[in-house]
Amino acid sequence: MTAAQPINAYISGTGFYVPPRIVTNDDLVNGYGIETTNEWIIQRTGIEARRYAERGVGSAELGARAAEDALADAGIAATDLDLIVFATLSPEYAFPGSGVLLQHRLGLNEGPNARHVPALDVRNQCSGFLYGLTTANAMVRSGAARHVLVVGAETHSAALDLTTRGRTVSSLFGDGAGAVVVSATTEDRGIRGCYLGADGSQAETLCQRVWDIRERPFIPLGEDGWGRVSPEHMYAHMDGRMVFKHAIAKMTGVLKQACDDLHVGLDDIDLFFFHQANLRINQYVAELLKLPADKVPHNIERYGNTTAATLPILLAEAVDDGRLRPGAKIALVAFGSGFTWGSAIIDW
Ligand code: UT7
Repeated sequence: MTAAQPINAYISGTGFYVPPRIVTNDDLVNGYGIETTNEWIIQRTGIEARRYAERGVGSAELGARAAEDALADAGIAATDLDLIVFATLSPEYAFPGSGVLLQHRLGLNEGPNARHVPALDVRNQCSGFLYGLTTANAMVRSGAARHVLVVGAETHSAALDLTTRGRTVSSLFGDGAGAVVVSATTEDRGIRGCYLGADGSQAETLCQRVWDIRERPFIPLGEDGWGRVSPEHMYAHMDGRMVFKHAIAKMTGVLKQACDDLHVGLDDIDLFFFHQANLRINQYVAELLKLPADKVPHNIERYGNTTAATLPILLAEAVDDGRLRPGAKIALVAFGSGFTWGSAIIDW
């Protein structure tokens, strides 16, 4: 009898979907009347354009399209899934989460082969994909699941203050979705380690409050008895400089933590996939760690910050254009609201 081989978790499929409508920096000025310039946005963030979904399309729909792409790439059917993990900060409703909407949209509850695959929602904003990937990795390695779908999807455009008042936040964000399938293998490859962190003392530094459940009523009521949400609470609030500073420190820290723990040198890593929040943040991190620019792919110029979706979109694009091939050693790093952050090292 041979000893049981260890189960590894690897990414067996990637996919992404972005809505077709392109909104350039000039469109923010000319279409929405925001007092900004193409030059200001490019100089501070590297963003040239982003995508906005049409009315009626939400994060579960965007996520479902990315998921279909990832399932096809993995060569499995939705009914083969043992778990769905959905990361978003722009869910359709306060509850239930987008995970069950996506599960239903994938057709899992219909017909004689209905399979009521469980759906878990992750609320960790820009680090949501890495929190989801960590969960998937643990489920697969423990033997509790063979295939886990991890989706990051955002419909920011519906909840941006598209006026000059909101320009600091609204010039950054865009809509989109990315997905991966995490599968079991006995091959010596896959996710080598995941590292997460959080600092809740900074919860209000980047947040979209909308309501406060500690208040009675939880949304202030007008004289007519209808809820009234002030613009300050309705839209995301961000102390951009504070986020920028912490992002650099935590991204470098959590990447080093992964490398030290796994005894991997930065030189051993072929590609660094960084959360696409701001090109300047990633350039600082790369400079501090002396990473060659051509090892740090980016697409923020085309999509802006799609929060939980940036990493799976970036991975899917790198697979599609042939940059990311089996055998490559890669690092994923993210930081965002919470504050939360994370990293992972994968032998692709
Ligand atoms: O994934 C989520 C994490 N989020 C981030 O990673 C964002 C991190 N932070 C940043 O990327 C930068 O802080 C921003 C790009 C958001 C802002 O750049 P900044 O250099 O920190 O600008 P600031 O917020 O300190 O504002 C400086 C000035 C202000 O004007 P006054 O008060 O000095 O007159 C802003 O009103 O820039 C103004 N400003 C703009 N001007 C033109 C802010 N946004 C814009 C804009 N166009 N879009």
